[in-house]
Amino acid sequence: MEVVRIVGGRPLAGAVTVAGAKNASLPMLAATLLTAEPCVLHNVPDLSDVRFMIEILRHHGATVEKLEPGSWRITAEEIQPHTPYDLVRKMRASICLLGALVGRLREAEIAMPGGCVIGPRPIDLHLKGLARLGCTVTHQNGYISVDARNASGTYIFMGGRHGSTVTGTANLLMATVLTPGVTRLDSAACEPEIVDLCRMLVAMGARIEGIGSPVLTITGVEKLGGCTHTVLPDRIEAGTYLLAGAITEGEVTVHGAITEQLGAFLDKLDEVGVEVDVLNPAVIRVRGNLAKCRPVDIITLPHPGFATDLQAQFSALLTLIPGISLITERIYPNRFMHVPELQRMGADIAIEGPTAIVKGGKGLTGAPVMASDLRASAALILAGLAAQGETWVQRIYHLDRGYAQFDKQLAALGADIARLKAEEMPKDYCEE
Ligand code: EPZ
Repeated sequence: MEVVRIVGGRPLAGAVTVAGAKNASLPMLAATLLTAEPCVLHNVPDLSDVRFMIEILRHHGATVEKLEPGSWRITAEEIQPHTPYDLVRKMRASICLLGALVGRLREAEIAMPGGCVIGPRPIDLHLKGLARLGCTVTHQNGYISVDARNASGTYIFMGGRHGSTVTGTANLLMATVLTPGVTRLDSAACEPEIVDLCRMLVAMGARIEGIGSPVLTITGVEKLGGCTHTVLPDRIEAGTYLLAGAITEGEVTVHGAITEQLGAFLDKLDEVGVEVDVLNPAVIRVRGNLAKCRPVDIITLPHPGFATDLQAQFSALLTLIPGISLITERIYPNRFMHVPELQRMGADIAIEGPTAIVKGGKGLTGAPVMASDLRASAALILAGLAAQGETWVQRIYHLDRGYAQFDKQLAALGADIARLKAEEMPKDYCEE
């Protein structure tokens, strides 16, 4: 096991280029199963979740070849419909294979994904959509089986109590592009990752209208062909590096992001008082000066609202800003596993239902902390960059799921950060 040690207090300075989006790459890799022809994906990030998805594609019978770093060719000539529990439980996002298997094979059998620390991760909206299409959906022994031989296009309302569903929209897109008839997905997710998936499906020959809107109209086609597609940049990674510049009162420039996809986040950065300069549509610079910052009220919402995947990281910044900030989670009401660890570093945060009340301004001190999920681990590292003294972050395998070489990139920006073996931690810091 590895840990990350940070000695805080150094302002970051320099530039970083964001990689391809994890949350677009995963459904796109699944989408390659929709055709027997080769699909080439460029700008695929080098993440453990992506490597795992590639192994799952091979499990299903696809040939996966690495052309060069970030570029893969996937050819799914003959595939089988079963996704076993030991694969799904390791990465719940593998549920996005469901739509691709139904689309290509008209059948699927996939293990129900478990929940995770950010909350229950239901798939009722995914299954409701498949049932609306006329699929026979059964749930037995922890597996979902879908028979789509009689499926046909129809109207499906995708909305749930927390807004739409991102992977649910991806699944129903992939299930319906090859389903006879016309399907209207109402209250579909509008996340940029879904827009990019639609573009890839259209490049394969799918017929999709309303791309980027909450109403997608899909006209089923007989067959899809291969494609060559470049994955869009990761807006969450971009936001995380911008926060690293802000929280250390440095100057960080992020290259390669799509600024218009970060509207709500940049608006909040500006409202909090961080100096944000959009140098061009793909280059954003921040300069941090905590003395000029003021508390804010953040509510996470479906896109184009404030992204839940940037909530934990932004919370770390708010612990340093004098005054009371509120963070309300409308997507995952329990997504506060980073809070107890930030409290170990001296943060004054109280949780009231879906809202974190942050009494900021007391400063943070380094401490041994435990990562619990992908974005919480990023938040703890950001806090460590600003804390006085040494912070050790354990279970950083969570971090590697969504950030490629996060520690190395931060070191290149001037952070005193190192990835070490767990045995190198001070003895009384080690996990029980
Ligand atoms: C995607 O998860 C992302 N993951 C998540 O990013 C992201 O936080 C989330 O969308 C919201 O933007 C991937 O794309 C791989 P949802 P997803 O279905 O699709 C409820 C990260 O850190 N819901 O949009 O699983 C659900 O409980 C990860 O990169 C239902 O009630 O999220 C949640 O409260 C974490 N029924 C809300 O909707 C359903 O059938 C949004 O879930 C499906 C979802």
